[in-house]
Amino acid sequence: MRLLAQLLSLAGFLALGRGQFNPCSGSIYNELNEPHRSTGYETGYPEKPICDIHLPEGWYRFTSKAGGEMPTTCPDRLKCGTVVPIWMKGTHPTVADDIVMREACGNFNSGSGAANPCCEHKVDIAVKNCSGFYVYYLSPPPSCPVAYCAGDIPPCPLGKWSPTGFAPCKDAHPQLKTRPTLTGPIILNNKSFEFHCDINWPQMDPDQRFQVVWTFEGKEDPAVLPQVLQDPDRTAILDGTLLRGHLNTNVGCQVRAFYDGNQAQMSGTLKSNTFYAGVTMNPAKLVVSEKAFEEEISISSTVPILCDHNTECCITFKLDVDATTGQPLSY
Ligand SMILES: *[C@@H]1O[C@H](CO)[C@@H](O)[C@H](O)[C@H]1NC(C)=O
Ligand SMILES: *[C@@H]1O[C@H](CO)[C@@H](O)[C@H](O)[C@H]1NC(C)=O
Repeated sequence: MRLLAQLLSLAGFLALGRGQFNPCSGSIYNELNEPHRSTGYETGYPEKPICDIHLPEGWYRFTSKAGGEMPTTCPDRLKCGTVVPIWMKGTHPTVADDIVMREACGNFNSGSGAANPCCEHKVDIAVKNCSGFYVYYLSPPPSCPVAYCAGDIPPCPLGKWSPTGFAPCKDAHPQLKTRPTLTGPIILNNKSFEFHCDINWPQMDPDQRFQVVWTFEGKEDPAVLPQVLQDPDRTAILDGTLLRGHLNTNVGCQVRAFYDGNQAQMSGTLKSNTFYAGVTMNPAKLVVSEKAFEEEISISSTVPILCDHNTECCITFKLDVDATTGQPLSY
């Protein structure tokens, strides 16, 4: 019943169409720009196959770089980014042919002995040659996952990527394996210092990017923005002043790699070694009894305490001894 209704509406549409309107006009047709509809593309697990069950009936132009023509021979199942590919039986029209009716077939693969191999499911379509491209009048198939094929140039397979979506294809992101190296503090001129995060990845590629995040005790600080490096830069720099508020923490960096244009598929995170930036006491704990002789404790800073002027610089430590309870001292 549904098919009949579709045919009637198609026939009506075509009758109306002749002479009165031109489906080659961009205001009439809709564009389908899905490179995976190519017969050169094999649907890969765990990809969601394309299904045209909700495709509104109407005129379509296939605009992906895979090509704009429906195949006129039967594609294998699992091609065209779907499970049951639909192809066109018959030839494409010339411009003079105007709008022609064609049978489109779904490859349900019901066996070589079937009455209509590769064409167990049929749907009527219309085609017009727009001198340079074709437009197709399509209606939705009755089930899923069934979809119309278009083009034959193979796009990048699942898990691979390229700026164009077609060959030459590379991995979805650079396959970083070695952890980044944190070095520092590096004193610049007795006035400032910095930490370096070196990315261990020698390969050069103008499309690759490295996102570097600085961490303090493993956590990111929203005030210290991530840096993005590109070739040939492999070193992110943390200025010493950004340690403010993060003294006495373990400083580290984390790197994720991606290709420009494919930031949605970043590599996993690689964490650097860490560096304790702050004050240490040696010994770490000291118990002094009232009767005992004096004891020494050395306090040192793992990060430079730099003077930004020529007069003397000093740091004050406050020593707190809770004499009433005899608690360990704190500083
Ligand atoms: C359309 O028809 C013309 C002849 O009328 C033909 O040369 C051309 O290859 C056909 N296809 C396209 C996509 O233009
Ligand atoms: C840094 O300080 C040290 C010691 O005070 C001094 O010997 C050195 O020349 C200074 N370096 C610079 C670049 O000012």
